[in-house]
Amino acid sequence: MSALRVGLLGYGRIAEAVHLPILTGLPGVEIVGIAEADPARRAEALRRAPRAVASASFEHILCRPDVDAVVICLPPALHADAAVAALEAGKHVYLEKPIATTLGDARRVLEASRHSPAVAMIGFNFRFSPLYRAARREIQAGALGELVGVRSVFAASSRRLPPWKQTREGGGGALLDLASHHVDLVRFLTGREVREVFAAVRSQRSEADTATLHLRLADGLLVQSFVSLSAVDEDRLDIYGQAGGLAVDRYRSLGVETTRAGRPVRRTDWLLAPLRPLARGASLLGRLRAPSYEPSYRAALAHFVAAARAHRPTSPSFLDGSISLAVVEAAEESARTGRAVLCPSILVDDAADRPPQATRPELSEATPQEA
Ligand SMILES: NC(=O)c1ccc[n+]([C@@H]2O[C@H](COP(=O)([O-])OP(=O)(O)OC[C@H]3O[C@@H](n4cnc5c(N)ncnc54)[C@H](O)[C@@H]3O)[C@@H](O)[C@H]2O)c1
Repeated sequence: MSALRVGLLGYGRIAEAVHLPILTGLPGVEIVGIAEADPARRAEALRRAPRAVASASFEHILCRPDVDAVVICLPPALHADAAVAALEAGKHVYLEKPIATTLGDARRVLEASRHSPAVAMIGFNFRFSPLYRAARREIQAGALGELVGVRSVFAASSRRLPPWKQTREGGGGALLDLASHHVDLVRFLTGREVREVFAAVRSQRSEADTATLHLRLADGLLVQSFVSLSAVDEDRLDIYGQAGGLAVDRYRSLGVETTRAGRPVRRTDWLLAPLRPLARGASLLGRLRAPSYEPSYRAALAHFVAAARAHRPTSPSFLDGSISLAVVEAAEESARTGRAVLCPSILVDDAADRPPQATRPELSEATPQEA
């Protein structure tokens, strides 16, 4: 099978730390084009991928017939235009989250994707995290019994933010930047859609840099989330069921921590706790080798590359990206009005005319190993 010839659109913080190093190391991938507006960054990208053609404009890369696929790492306000143009040019698209900054733009992207045979995948890479996959297996196996509730925190330490991240219009704010991931993970882990949202936001260092969300899922399951761009680095989900609970701390744990309901805490629980990492040596090695110590980025990109080379539909899909954005917009409306808001009908309408092979893409059984 011939190599997938990839154009990287945007060479900022995440593309430098994650996408370019991963793509240059993936078998069956050739980086043939780089679009980056900033000349110094463009020169740096070319140093790392010397055989690529570089341009200040992504449109220029999309015109090239030798580009089969693009990986879009531009600021979010450019995502919709770049993805639509790429699909219209017949390129496979890996689009970083969020799919767009407005649901109207997300619908344009969905529409372009429906009319294109190209493979399209949204960058909800955490679905490929071994931790979340293990948690999902536990839930699906019934280890927690009937689910009761979910609590989640996704926060980052106060850092200098790029201009786009400081305003909602540019694609920033904790809801779009962070909650979009956790909304998707809640859907991925529980297999349920979000029906209703109640949210509050606060602006301290930048616009809407902190938010709380209360979600009610389709069967009544309750979710409470805290997201902030101005706190400490934390990414944690606790899922409670009638038979037990599980916790995933993405930055600090090497495995899913489980608790059985009704089991008393024993002395050995905390005496043995420091030894647990030794029993998880394989996970430890995987983490140490991964860019940003996060193996899901490589697994997600490898999955996209395999799907694009085989012309096979894949997930997470642009519909998953749109559903997450719909929940974010409902949260913003709730914060503005002070009322709980029902999630818009994109969840129903678009699910109804989904092609059969993509049925429930959010619950795809594809594993990173298949990539
Ligand atoms: N999946 C994840 O976990 C994850 C993590 C971080 C960032 N992201 C997403 O990746 C995207 C990029 O984030 P970032 O932190 O790297 O931002 P960034 O601001 O560091 O990088 C964006 C780059 O795009 C360039 N650019 C802007 N306009 C351009 C244009 N018209 N043509 C070509 N280049 C242009 C900028 O010069 C900059 O280098 C965002 O959408 C963000 O949400 C996803």
